[in-house]
Amino acid sequence: MQVHVGACMLELVIGDITQQATEAIVNAANSRLAGGGGVDGAIHRAGGPTIMAETRARYPQGCPTGSAVLTGGGILPARWVIHAVGPIWHGGRHGEAAHLAEAYRHSLRVAVAQACTSVAFPSLSTGAYGYPVTLASQTALSTVVAFLQAQQQPDLVRFVLFDRETYEAYAAVLRTQGLPMAPPQSPAGEATRLPRT
Ligand code: APR
Repeated sequence: MQVHVGACMLELVIGDITQQATEAIVNAANSRLAGGGGVDGAIHRAGGPTIMAETRARYPQGCPTGSAVLTGGGILPARWVIHAVGPIWHGGRHGEAAHLAEAYRHSLRVAVAQACTSVAFPSLSTGAYGYPVTLASQTALSTVVAFLQAQQQPDLVRFVLFDRETYEAYAAVLRTQGLPMAPPQSPAGEATRLPRT
């Protein structure tokens, strides 16, 4: 599913974040930047040891919840990894939504500062950190849409959702945003164009 946000594109796909050839991908990291399971484990496995080596060297103090830091992408298709720290879900009354929004905004700021034209996000905080997917998708999408409307960059933001249930939760929220849909993709993966008259 793709929608236009001004001149930018916002896209939802089902897939594996490590396979994305966007200029940057976002890691669902922890505040110690210590690696882990889920997205974090998959990125470090697929990207090789240079990502952790750079993380340790440049950010020995870690990264606070709601913030994000940049490393190279090692042998990943993506050139950069933005390590973002979403909140742990504690019932919703401990600033979780604000921290989650800040993690997305901070990641986008890092991407723009690095002149990335495309960035792929996983669903931050909805795995090991236990954030309910429907609530997280509302915050994730409204934050990204507001950023794109205000900044008109990066050109492409893609949410890479690991399973159909998560994809459907995000798609249901995105449909309520009143944004113009992009034309459906042809089987060859190219946007369908109407013939010229
Ligand atoms: N690609 C895309 N999405 C993935 C992938 C993948 N390869 N692997 C898992 N996911 C999905 C999960 O199914 C979930 O929907 O990403 C979402 C986020 O899950 P987590 O990776 O567990 O991230 P989070 O909830 O933010 O927890 C972060 O987990 O691995 C540790 O070090 C990490 O401590 C940190 C915590």
